[in-house]
Amino acid sequence: MPPMLILGIESSCDETGIALYDTDAGGVLLSHALHSQVPMHQEYGGVVPELASRDHIRRVVPLLRKVIADSGRSLNELDAIAYTQGPGLAGALLVGAAFAEGLACSLGIPSVPVHHLEGHLLSPLLSRRPPAFPFIALLVSGGHSQLMQVGGIGQYQLLGETLDDAAGEAFDKTAKLLGLPYPGGPALAELAEHGQADAVKLPRPMLHSGDLDFSFSGLKTAVLTKVRAIGSPDAQQRADIARGFQDAIVEVLVKKSMRAVKESGLERLVVAGGVGANRELRRHLDAQAANAGISVYYPEFEFCTDNGAMIALAGALRLQAGATLKPAGAFAVRARWPLAELTA
Ligand code: KG4
Ligand code: ZN
Repeated sequence: MPPMLILGIESSCDETGIALYDTDAGGVLLSHALHSQVPMHQEYGGVVPELASRDHIRRVVPLLRKVIADSGRSLNELDAIAYTQGPGLAGALLVGAAFAEGLACSLGIPSVPVHHLEGHLLSPLLSRRPPAFPFIALLVSGGHSQLMQVGGIGQYQLLGETLDDAAGEAFDKTAKLLGLPYPGGPALAELAEHGQADAVKLPRPMLHSGDLDFSFSGLKTAVLTKVRAIGSPDAQQRADIARGFQDAIVEVLVKKSMRAVKESGLERLVVAGGVGANRELRRHLDAQAANAGISVYYPEFEFCTDNGAMIALAGALRLQAGATLKPAGAFAVRARWPLAELTA
């Protein structure tokens, strides 16, 4: 297949991300730009969908201009436009999808609708040390917590998933209980650094369930009970609770990931999604994996959370794998969309 220049557009939640990826020379990310809406949503304590959609509309053209200018290429050189079709917030998805399809139509090139989680799953391939297929993937974001067996592009077998809250959601809700700003994950992780180990012991939900499923809503309730029992926790008590929460969630994620890799007989584990940026999770996974002779792969920190680069990459890999090219024009977004429904 001749080299292709692929534009990637991400708009599924509270980040507008645009990137340009060249499949030439083994694949190169030429340029990428991101606008995070976090400061805008912060005063509401979470993402406000209507504000998210409107902000994507404002950002998408300036970001595109920047990405094209930074790359030294021109719009006329594009071969295809990949964009997030779902899952995510319907209105936010519609902005990216309509923009991508309109631009593709005007340039006379095809569009490539991409599954957001496939983007996360493949994001470690953008790093300096990319994993080879097959591998086990721990996908931990604000909306999903899943263990998947990945045989190749479009070969995704669900091994286990959360029965209630996602790991990132549990971080966000617990952070809120501790009075931390949205998004809670990074803020809670920072607070936990000042906490004492074992000062607050919290349950490890489903640690011994014998399967690869997760459940995190009980952990959040245990934190709520703890906070209520104390009344108004001081700074050290809040840090101890944050530490207890992070230790519990990390222990469960590490144990189940190791179990999934061992049961599969594979030797590679890929960690993707926003919670994959958590340093304690990385430290424990690295230590246990080293003992077990397993290699662990992460996306670069900047590509752990939502971004356009992973969407451009997923689109490029789909095209290289022979995806049928869809003429730009009619489209639909999918707010809900199980990853295991994808095929090669
Ligand atoms: O993948 P992502 O950007 O968006 C979704 O597709 O959901 O993930 C966002 C989630 C949020 O819940 C955020 O709190 C969490 O990832 N997160 C973290 C960290 N950085 C982001 N959680 C724990 N520790 C972190 N360092
Ligand atoms: Zn995401």
